[in-house]
Amino acid sequence: MSVSLTINGTPVSVDVPGEMPLLWVLRDVLDLPGTKFGCGRALCGACTVHVNGSAVRSCTAQIAEAEGAEVKTIEGLSPDGSHPLQRAWKALDVAQCGYCQPGQIMAAAALLARTTKPTDAQIDAALSGNLCRCATYLRIREAVKLAATDSAPRSIIPTR
Ligand code: FES
Ligand code: FES
Repeated sequence: MSVSLTINGTPVSVDVPGEMPLLWVLRDVLDLPGTKFGCGRALCGACTVHVNGSAVRSCTAQIAEAEGAEVKTIEGLSPDGSHPLQRAWKALDVAQCGYCQPGQIMAAAALLARTTKPTDAQIDAALSGNLCRCATYLRIREAVKLAATDSAPRSIIPTR
């Protein structure tokens, strides 16, 4: 079936089976490999993207459900990698192997777009479904708090 949606501010149409996971479309059809495959069962958060501004597990979201949606991936978070979260991630050297980090950042971006100064409990709750085999959780939390002090724009609403 043909599905029309907006990816990182660019309108696209894909002709794929309607039950294909959004993650497959992003990685294999649209060549956006920043979003990772982990469990494929909505359990690890590696595949987190924004759909209409909310953090969504793209491994279990069928592409047919994304008709007309605004999708943002890690590639579209900031045109030049200067989103406050990306700067904080670099400043605190958060990533270890890095595999889970796009999903962590996208989950954190959805949080900060709604809660400008999250508490530790709010950060932990928002990211509790994002697993990290390297156990970078404490640095992730500190980076989210550092990003929350940044006054730079951090909208997650796609720009056209
Ligand atoms: S790959 Fe989607 S939640 Fe694990
Ligand atoms: S940094 Fe390695 S899995 Fe999170």
